[in-house]
Amino acid sequence: MNRLADGELRRVALIPGDGIGREVVPAARQVLEALALPIEFVELEAGWETFQRTGAALPEATVAALQNCHGALFGAVSSPSHRVEGYSSPIIALRKRFDLYANLRPIVSAPVPGSQPKVDMLIVRENTECLYVKQEQLVDNGEKAIAQRVITRRASERIARMAFDRARLRHSHLQFLARPSLVTIVHKANVLSISDGLFRESALRIAQAYADIPVEEQLVDSMIYRLILEPQRYDVVVAPNLYGDIISDAAAALVGGLGLAPSANVGDQFVVAEPVHGSAPDIAGHGIANPVATILATALLLETLAMSEAASAIQQAVQQVLAEGPHTRDLGGKAKTAEVTQAIIQRLG
Ligand code: NAI
Ligand code: MG
Repeated sequence: MNRLADGELRRVALIPGDGIGREVVPAARQVLEALALPIEFVELEAGWETFQRTGAALPEATVAALQNCHGALFGAVSSPSHRVEGYSSPIIALRKRFDLYANLRPIVSAPVPGSQPKVDMLIVRENTECLYVKQEQLVDNGEKAIAQRVITRRASERIARMAFDRARLRHSHLQFLARPSLVTIVHKANVLSISDGLFRESALRIAQAYADIPVEEQLVDSMIYRLILEPQRYDVVVAPNLYGDIISDAAAALVGGLGLAPSANVGDQFVVAEPVHGSAPDIAGHGIANPVATILATALLLETLAMSEAASAIQQAVQQVLAEGPHTRDLGGKAKTAEVTQAIIQRLG
Protein backbone atom coordinates (compact mmCIF):
# COMPACT_ATOMS: atom_id res chain seq x y z
CA MET A 1 0.00 0.00 0.00
CA ASN A 2 2.85 2.39 0.77
CA ARG A 3 4.76 1.46 -2.33
CA LEU A 4 3.25 4.35 -4.25
CA ALA A 5 5.68 6.65 -6.00
CA ASP A 6 5.46 10.41 -5.47
CA GLY A 7 3.73 11.54 -8.65
CA GLU A 8 1.84 8.30 -9.23
CA LEU A 9 -1.89 8.65 -9.72
CA ARG A 10 -3.99 7.45 -6.77
CA ARG A 11 -7.50 6.21 -7.46
CA VAL A 12 -9.65 7.18 -4.49
CA ALA A 13 -13.20 5.88 -4.15
CA LEU A 14 -15.83 8.17 -2.66
CA ILE A 15 -18.82 6.43 -1.08
CA PRO A 16 -21.11 9.14 0.37
CA GLY A 17 -23.81 6.69 1.54
CA ASP A 18 -26.89 8.20 3.21
CA GLY A 19 -27.95 11.28 5.16
CA ILE A 20 -25.16 13.73 5.98
CA GLY A 21 -22.70 11.37 4.27
CA ARG A 22 -23.90 13.06 1.07
CA GLU A 23 -23.00 16.46 2.45
CA VAL A 24 -19.69 15.79 4.18
CA VAL A 25 -18.07 13.56 1.53
CA PRO A 26 -18.54 16.19 -1.23
CA ALA A 27 -17.05 18.73 1.23
CA ALA A 28 -13.98 16.51 1.67
CA ARG A 29 -13.74 16.13 -2.11
CA GLN A 30 -13.57 19.92 -2.46
CA VAL A 31 -10.68 20.02 0.01
CA LEU A 32 -8.83 17.33 -1.96
CA GLU A 33 -9.48 19.14 -5.24
CA ALA A 34 -8.12 22.36 -3.80
CA LEU A 35 -4.84 20.58 -3.02
CA ALA A 36 -4.47 19.59 -6.70
CA LEU A 37 -3.05 16.17 -5.86
CA PRO A 38 -2.51 13.33 -8.34
CA ILE A 39 -5.85 11.76 -7.40
CA GLU A 40 -8.55 10.35 -9.62
CA PHE A 41 -11.95 10.18 -7.91
CA VAL A 42 -14.26 7.21 -8.37
CA GLU A 43 -17.81 7.86 -7.13
CA LEU A 44 -19.49 4.69 -5.84
CA GLU A 45 -22.74 3.83 -4.14
CA ALA A 46 -23.70 1.87 -1.03
CA GLY A 47 -26.14 2.18 1.85
CA TRP A 48 -29.78 2.10 2.76
CA GLU A 49 -31.04 4.17 -0.16
CA THR A 50 -28.99 2.00 -2.53
CA PHE A 51 -30.50 -1.09 -0.90
CA GLN A 52 -34.04 0.19 -1.37
CA ARG A 53 -33.38 1.02 -5.00
CA THR A 54 -31.27 -2.00 -6.04
CA GLY A 55 -31.79 -4.69 -3.38
CA ALA A 56 -28.12 -4.61 -2.35
CA ALA A 57 -26.61 -2.35 0.33
CA LEU A 58 -23.13 -3.02 -1.05
CA PRO A 59 -23.57 -3.68 -4.80
CA GLU A 60 -21.08 -6.05 -6.44
CA ALA A 61 -20.27 -3.24 -8.89
CA THR A 62 -19.04 -1.15 -5.94
CA VAL A 63 -16.86 -3.99 -4.62
CA ALA A 64 -15.44 -4.61 -8.12
CA ALA A 65 -14.64 -0.92 -8.62
CA LEU A 66 -12.98 -0.74 -5.18
CA GLN A 67 -10.60 -3.49 -6.23
CA ASN A 68 -9.12 -1.04 -8.72
CA CYS A 69 -8.75 1.75 -6.16
CA HIS A 70 -5.94 2.52 -3.71
CA GLY A 71 -8.29 3.52 -0.92
CA ALA A 72 -11.76 4.82 -0.14
CA LEU A 73 -13.53 7.53 1.79
CA PHE A 74 -16.83 6.38 3.25
CA GLY A 75 -19.48 8.82 4.50
CA ALA A 76 -22.12 7.08 6.61
CA VAL A 77 -25.07 4.83 6.06
CA SER A 78 -28.45 4.63 7.73
CA SER A 79 -29.06 1.18 9.15
CA PRO A 80 -32.60 0.42 10.28
CA SER A 81 -32.80 -0.53 13.95
CA HIS A 82 -35.15 -3.41 13.14
CA ARG A 83 -34.11 -6.47 11.13
CA VAL A 84 -34.69 -6.08 7.40
CA GLU A 85 -34.45 -9.22 5.28
CA GLY A 86 -31.43 -9.03 2.97
CA TYR A 87 -29.95 -5.86 4.49
CA SER A 88 -26.67 -5.76 6.34
CA SER A 89 -24.43 -2.78 6.99
CA PRO A 90 -22.09 -2.15 4.03
CA ILE A 91 -19.27 -0.81 6.19
CA ILE A 92 -19.12 -4.06 8.16
CA ALA A 93 -19.23 -5.99 4.88
CA LEU A 94 -16.37 -3.86 3.52
CA ARG A 95 -14.25 -4.56 6.61
CA LYS A 96 -14.71 -8.28 5.94
CA ARG A 97 -14.32 -8.24 2.14
CA PHE A 98 -11.05 -6.30 2.28
CA ASP A 99 -9.76 -7.75 5.56
CA LEU A 100 -9.54 -4.28 7.14
CA TYR A 101 -8.40 -5.73 10.42
CA ALA A 102 -7.51 -2.54 12.28
CA ASN A 103 -9.70 0.39 13.16
CA LEU A 104 -7.48 3.36 13.89
CA ARG A 105 -8.96 6.25 15.82
CA PRO A 106 -6.77 9.21 16.68
CA ILE A 107 -8.07 11.15 19.68
CA VAL A 108 -6.51 14.60 19.71
CA SER A 109 -7.33 17.76 21.68
CA ALA A 110 -9.18 20.33 19.63
CA PRO A 111 -9.16 24.10 20.25
CA VAL A 112 -12.91 24.12 20.96
CA PRO A 113 -14.84 24.51 24.21
CA GLY A 114 -15.35 21.21 25.97
CA SER A 115 -12.18 19.57 24.70
CA GLN A 116 -9.65 18.34 27.25
CA PRO A 117 -6.18 19.86 26.67
CA LYS A 118 -3.01 18.00 25.66
CA VAL A 119 -4.65 14.75 24.60
CA ASP A 120 -2.97 12.95 21.71
CA MET A 121 -3.61 9.24 21.57
CA LEU A 122 -4.26 6.60 18.97
CA ILE A 123 -6.76 3.84 19.64
CA VAL A 124 -6.00 0.68 17.68
CA ARG A 125 -9.10 -1.48 17.72
CA GLU A 126 -9.26 -5.04 16.40
CA ASN A 127 -11.87 -4.93 13.64
CA THR A 128 -12.74 -8.50 12.62
CA GLU A 129 -13.65 -10.69 15.58
CA CYS A 130 -14.60 -10.71 19.31
CA LEU A 131 -18.39 -10.51 19.85
CA TYR A 132 -18.79 -8.83 16.45
CA VAL A 133 -18.64 -12.18 14.65
CA LYS A 134 -22.40 -12.02 15.38
CA GLN A 135 -22.80 -15.71 16.27
CA GLU A 136 -25.89 -15.32 18.42
CA GLN A 137 -28.67 -17.72 19.19
CA LEU A 138 -31.74 -18.08 21.32
CA VAL A 139 -32.15 -21.35 23.22
CA ASP A 140 -34.49 -22.71 25.90
CA ASN A 141 -37.60 -21.56 24.04
CA GLY A 142 -36.31 -18.03 23.81
CA GLU A 143 -35.47 -17.78 27.49
CA LYS A 144 -31.73 -17.69 26.97
CA ALA A 145 -29.55 -15.82 24.48
CA ILE A 146 -26.00 -16.93 23.75
CA ALA A 147 -23.35 -14.96 21.86
CA GLN A 148 -20.03 -16.41 20.84
CA ARG A 149 -16.87 -14.42 21.38
CA VAL A 150 -14.02 -15.33 19.06
CA ILE A 151 -10.43 -14.31 19.78
CA THR A 152 -7.64 -15.77 17.66
CA ARG A 153 -3.90 -15.67 18.16
CA ARG A 154 -3.46 -14.55 14.54
CA ALA A 155 -5.80 -11.54 14.80
CA SER A 156 -4.47 -10.58 18.25
CA GLU A 157 -0.86 -10.70 17.10
CA ARG A 158 -1.44 -8.69 13.95
CA ILE A 159 -3.39 -5.97 15.76
CA ALA A 160 -0.64 -5.78 18.38
CA ARG A 161 1.98 -5.53 15.64
CA MET A 162 -0.02 -2.68 14.08
CA ALA A 163 -0.15 -0.90 17.46
CA PHE A 164 3.58 -1.17 18.09
CA ASP A 165 4.44 -0.14 14.52
CA ARG A 166 2.20 2.90 14.86
CA ALA A 167 3.76 3.74 18.23
CA ARG A 168 7.17 3.75 16.59
CA LEU A 169 5.96 5.81 13.65
CA ARG A 170 4.28 8.43 15.84
CA HIS A 171 7.44 9.10 17.75
CA SER A 172 9.60 9.13 14.67
CA HIS A 173 7.85 12.06 13.01
CA LEU A 174 5.51 13.69 15.49
CA GLN A 175 8.11 16.04 16.97
CA PHE A 176 5.51 18.00 18.91
CA LEU A 177 4.30 14.94 20.76
CA ALA A 178 5.11 15.75 24.37
CA ARG A 179 4.29 12.45 26.02
CA PRO A 180 6.63 9.48 26.13
CA SER A 181 5.94 6.52 23.94
CA LEU A 182 3.66 3.91 25.54
CA VAL A 183 1.47 1.04 24.35
CA THR A 184 -1.45 0.15 26.63
CA ILE A 185 -2.89 -3.34 26.13
CA VAL A 186 -6.54 -3.44 27.24
CA HIS A 187 -8.27 -6.66 28.28
CA LYS A 188 -10.30 -8.29 31.02
CA ALA A 189 -8.20 -11.40 31.46
CA ASN A 190 -8.86 -11.54 35.19
CA VAL A 191 -12.41 -12.66 34.36
CA LEU A 192 -12.19 -13.97 30.78
CA SER A 193 -8.94 -15.79 31.32
CA ILE A 194 -9.17 -17.90 28.17
CA SER A 195 -10.34 -15.46 25.48
CA ASP A 196 -8.90 -12.23 26.85
CA GLY A 197 -6.05 -14.34 28.16
CA LEU A 198 -5.17 -15.25 24.57
CA PHE A 199 -5.40 -11.61 23.48
CA ARG A 200 -3.17 -10.51 26.34
CA GLU A 201 -0.60 -13.24 25.85
CA SER A 202 -0.43 -12.62 22.07
CA ALA A 203 0.00 -8.86 22.50
CA LEU A 204 2.69 -9.28 25.17
CA ARG A 205 4.54 -11.72 22.92
CA ILE A 206 4.61 -9.17 20.09
CA ALA A 207 5.76 -6.52 22.59
CA GLN A 208 8.99 -8.44 23.07
CA ALA A 209 10.00 -7.59 19.52
CA TYR A 210 9.66 -3.86 20.31
CA ALA A 211 12.02 -3.47 23.23
CA ASP A 212 12.27 0.30 22.55
CA ILE A 213 8.58 0.88 23.33
CA PRO A 214 7.32 0.80 26.92
CA VAL A 215 4.24 -1.37 27.39
CA GLU A 216 1.58 -1.67 30.09
CA GLU A 217 -1.63 -3.63 30.46
CA GLN A 218 -4.92 -2.43 31.96
CA LEU A 219 -8.27 -4.01 32.69
CA VAL A 220 -10.91 -2.39 30.49
CA ASP A 221 -13.10 -0.99 33.27
CA SER A 222 -10.30 0.72 35.14
CA MET A 223 -8.79 1.82 31.84
CA ILE A 224 -11.95 3.78 30.97
CA TYR A 225 -12.00 5.27 34.49
CA ARG A 226 -8.45 6.48 34.06
CA LEU A 227 -9.12 7.64 30.50
CA ILE A 228 -11.80 10.02 31.75
CA LEU A 229 -9.64 11.32 34.61
CA GLU A 230 -6.28 11.45 32.89
CA PRO A 231 -6.58 11.16 29.09
CA GLN A 232 -3.21 12.88 28.66
CA ARG A 233 -1.27 9.84 29.87
CA TYR A 234 -2.23 7.60 26.94
CA ASP A 235 -0.27 7.23 23.72
CA VAL A 236 -1.27 4.09 21.79
CA VAL A 237 -4.08 1.90 23.12
CA VAL A 238 -4.73 -1.56 21.65
CA ALA A 239 -7.91 -3.50 22.39
CA PRO A 240 -10.19 -6.29 21.18
CA ASN A 241 -13.16 -5.19 19.05
CA LEU A 242 -15.91 -4.51 21.62
CA TYR A 243 -13.70 -2.82 24.22
CA GLY A 244 -12.08 -0.78 21.46
CA ASP A 245 -15.47 0.35 20.20
CA ILE A 246 -16.58 1.54 23.62
CA ILE A 247 -13.26 3.13 24.57
CA SER A 248 -13.05 5.07 21.34
CA ASP A 249 -16.52 6.62 21.54
CA ALA A 250 -15.88 7.61 25.17
CA ALA A 251 -12.53 9.10 24.18
CA ALA A 252 -14.08 11.08 21.28
CA ALA A 253 -16.40 12.76 23.79
CA LEU A 254 -13.32 14.11 25.64
CA VAL A 255 -12.02 16.09 22.66
CA GLY A 256 -14.93 17.86 20.98
CA GLY A 257 -17.33 15.10 20.02
CA LEU A 258 -18.58 13.24 16.99
CA GLY A 259 -18.41 16.14 14.57
CA LEU A 260 -14.61 16.04 14.83
CA ALA A 261 -13.75 12.33 15.14
CA PRO A 262 -12.12 10.53 12.18
CA SER A 263 -11.23 6.86 11.79
CA ALA A 264 -9.55 4.55 9.31
CA ASN A 265 -10.22 0.88 8.64
CA VAL A 266 -6.85 -0.48 7.65
CA GLY A 267 -5.68 -3.79 6.20
CA ASP A 268 -2.45 -4.84 4.55
CA GLN A 269 -3.83 -4.08 1.07
CA PHE A 270 -6.50 -1.43 1.43
CA VAL A 271 -7.86 1.38 3.59
CA VAL A 272 -11.34 2.81 4.07
CA ALA A 273 -11.37 6.08 6.00
CA GLU A 274 -14.61 7.35 7.53
CA PRO A 275 -15.96 9.74 10.14
CA VAL A 276 -16.94 8.00 13.38
CA HIS A 277 -20.43 9.51 13.22
CA GLY A 278 -23.46 8.09 11.43
CA SER A 279 -25.88 9.52 8.88
CA ALA A 280 -27.48 11.96 11.40
CA PRO A 281 -31.02 11.88 9.98
CA ASP A 282 -32.03 14.62 12.44
CA ILE A 283 -29.94 17.23 10.61
CA ALA A 284 -29.54 15.68 7.13
CA GLY A 285 -30.54 17.84 4.18
CA HIS A 286 -30.06 21.18 5.93
CA GLY A 287 -26.43 21.76 5.02
CA ILE A 288 -25.42 22.17 8.67
CA ALA A 289 -23.39 18.99 9.32
CA ASN A 290 -19.87 19.47 10.59
CA PRO A 291 -17.54 18.36 7.76
CA VAL A 292 -14.44 18.25 10.01
CA ALA A 293 -14.60 14.53 10.98
CA THR A 294 -14.73 13.54 7.31
CA ILE A 295 -12.06 16.03 6.27
CA LEU A 296 -9.76 14.66 9.03
CA ALA A 297 -10.60 11.11 7.86
CA THR A 298 -9.42 12.23 4.42
CA ALA A 299 -6.10 13.24 5.98
CA LEU A 300 -5.77 9.74 7.49
CA LEU A 301 -6.44 8.30 4.04
CA LEU A 302 -3.74 10.47 2.48
CA GLU A 303 -1.23 9.31 5.11
CA THR A 304 -1.75 5.70 4.08
CA LEU A 305 -1.47 6.70 0.40
CA ALA A 306 2.01 8.14 1.04
CA MET A 307 0.84 11.77 0.85
CA SER A 308 1.80 12.86 4.35
CA GLU A 309 2.53 16.47 3.43
CA ALA A 310 -0.96 17.02 2.10
CA ALA A 311 -2.34 15.21 5.15
CA SER A 312 -0.63 17.58 7.56
CA ALA A 313 -1.66 20.61 5.49
CA ILE A 314 -5.27 19.51 5.98
CA GLN A 315 -4.77 18.86 9.70
CA GLN A 316 -3.22 22.29 10.25
CA ALA A 317 -5.93 24.09 8.29
CA VAL A 318 -8.60 22.29 10.33
CA GLN A 319 -6.87 23.24 13.61
CA GLN A 320 -6.88 26.90 12.55
CA VAL A 321 -10.54 26.87 11.64
CA LEU A 322 -11.43 25.14 14.89
CA ALA A 323 -9.48 27.77 16.81
CA GLU A 324 -10.80 30.81 14.92
CA GLY A 325 -14.15 29.69 13.52
CA PRO A 326 -16.43 29.56 11.69
CA HIS A 327 -18.11 26.74 13.61
CA THR A 328 -21.13 24.59 12.82
CA ARG A 329 -24.02 24.25 15.23
CA ASP A 330 -22.68 21.18 17.06
CA LEU A 331 -19.79 23.40 18.23
CA GLY A 332 -22.08 26.25 19.22
CA GLY A 333 -21.71 28.23 15.98
CA LYS A 334 -24.09 29.13 13.16
CA ALA A 335 -22.01 28.30 10.09
CA LYS A 336 -23.11 25.93 7.36
CA THR A 337 -21.13 22.94 6.09
CA ALA A 338 -20.10 24.94 3.01
CA GLU A 339 -18.73 27.89 5.01
CA VAL A 340 -16.58 25.69 7.23
CA THR A 341 -15.32 23.80 4.19
CA GLN A 342 -14.40 27.05 2.40
CA ALA A 343 -12.64 28.35 5.52
CA ILE A 344 -10.54 25.17 5.65
CA ILE A 345 -9.71 25.42 1.94
CA GLN A 346 -8.59 29.06 2.38
CA ARG A 347 -6.12 28.02 5.08
CA LEU A 348 -4.52 25.16 3.17
CA GLY A 349 -1.40 27.26 2.70
P1 NAI B 1 -25.20 9.77 14.48
O1 NAI B 1 -23.73 9.80 14.62
O2 NAI B 1 -25.73 9.76 13.10
O3 NAI B 1 -25.84 11.05 15.25
C1 NAI B 1 -25.74 11.24 16.66
C2 NAI B 1 -25.96 12.73 16.99
O4 NAI B 1 -24.79 13.47 16.63
C3 NAI B 1 -27.12 13.35 16.21
O5 NAI B 1 -27.78 14.27 17.02
C4 NAI B 1 -26.43 14.07 15.06
O6 NAI B 1 -27.14 15.17 14.57
C5 NAI B 1 -25.10 14.46 15.67
N1 NAI B 1 -24.04 14.46 14.66
C6 NAI B 1 -23.42 13.38 14.14
N2 NAI B 1 -22.51 13.74 13.22
C7 NAI B 1 -22.57 15.08 13.15
C8 NAI B 1 -21.88 16.05 12.35
N3 NAI B 1 -20.97 15.71 11.43
N4 NAI B 1 -22.21 17.34 12.52
C9 NAI B 1 -23.13 17.72 13.44
N5 NAI B 1 -23.80 16.86 14.22
C10 NAI B 1 -23.52 15.55 14.07
O7 NAI B 1 -25.72 8.50 15.29
P2 NAI B 1 -27.18 7.89 15.42
O8 NAI B 1 -28.19 8.99 15.49
O9 NAI B 1 -27.08 6.91 16.51
O10 NAI B 1 -27.44 7.07 14.08
C11 NAI B 1 -28.09 7.59 12.91
C12 NAI B 1 -27.94 6.57 11.78
O11 NAI B 1 -26.59 6.43 11.43
C13 NAI B 1 -28.44 5.18 12.14
O12 NAI B 1 -29.13 4.67 11.01
C14 NAI B 1 -27.19 4.39 12.39
O13 NAI B 1 -27.33 3.03 12.11
C15 NAI B 1 -26.22 5.05 11.44
N6 NAI B 1 -24.80 4.94 11.83
C16 NAI B 1 -23.91 4.67 10.82
C17 NAI B 1 -22.56 4.61 11.07
C18 NAI B 1 -21.66 4.36 9.91
O14 NAI B 1 -22.08 4.47 8.77
N7 NAI B 1 -20.41 4.02 10.14
C19 NAI B 1 -22.02 4.82 12.41
C20 NAI B 1 -23.02 5.16 13.41
C21 NAI B 1 -24.36 5.19 13.10
MG1 MG C 1 -19.07 2.81 17.85
